[in-house]
Parts: sequence; C-alpha cells; structure tokens
Amino acid sequence: MPIADCRIIDLPRITDARGNLTFIEGGRHVPFDIKRVYYLYDVPGGAERGAHGHRRLQQLIVAMSGSCDVILDDGSESKVFHMNRSYYGLYVTPMMWREITNFSSGAVLMVLASDYYDPADYFRDYEQFLAEARKAR
Ligand code: TYD
Repeated sequence: MPIADCRIIDLPRITDARGNLTFIEGGRHVPFDIKRVYYLYDVPGGAERGAHGHRRLQQLIVAMSGSCDVILDDGSESKVFHMNRSYYGLYVTPMMWREITNFSSGAVLMVLASDYYDPADYFRDYEQFLAEARKAR
C-alpha cells in the first residue's frame, strides 16, 4: 500500500447560519465499512500519540476540534498531514506507520476504523514494521 493511497477526503458539508453539519457514510465517503469509532481528547500539551502501524486496519482520521499533525510513513516515504478542519478526513491504508503530534489545546481527534480493536493487528516496533513493509513490496 503506497503512501499515495493515503489522502484527505473532503467530507460533505451542509453550511448553515445556525451552524455547519458534516456527515460520513461507511462505504460511500470512506472506502470501508465502519466497525469502530474512537476518539482522543484531553491531550496534554507536547504529548504524542500513535507510533505504531496496522497490518490490515483502515482508518479515517478527523480533527473534530482543534488541530494536530499526522505523520504517515510507508517504510520508504513519509508525509505530514496538518489536520485542522472538521470536514477533512485523512484516509489511512493498512501498513502505514503513524505518529500524531502538535495537538492544539482542546483538540479532539475522531478515528473511524474498519475493524474492532485487535492488539494482534498492531506493529509496535518500527524495525519490525519496516521489515514487513519491505517484504510486502
Ligand atoms: P493505542 O492505539 O496505542 O493509542 P495511540 O496510538 O493513540 O497512542 O491505544 C491506547 C490504549 O487504548 C491501548 O492500551 C489499547 C487501548 N485501546 C482499546 O482498548 N480499544 C481501542 O479501540 C483503541 C484504539 C485502543
């Protein structure tokens, strides 16, 4: 899965003087069926999250409030995505190492995932991730 397949998806936006609305439909706006939703919040200043990869999981990351940087790395190339709009979804393919940094205060990061939480799907060790990513090439 090359990093070029990871991209910002512009989610639908219903703008209204009373407040804007965005919706996400599994299989339509994201190329997978959504099986799990989780979110990061109350992130203290300077904290970093992520630092892992997934074997099979696909995700869509949305900064619901505030901002952060998501660094994706496929083992040969890396890219930084600045997430600062509630209508941007970052689609993350399998076999992508990710680090999440520069959280603004009050940031809330929602993640839609293609599967349930499974510790066996994680790479926690970067060297091991690199070895697998190279094998898959
Ligand atoms: P982790 O995925 O390592 O978070 P991050 O990459 O943001 O640092 O998860 C942190 C902890 O939360 C870990 O002990 C596993 C647990 N967890 C669940 O139980 N269910 C979930 O859906 C997720 C995402 C994490």
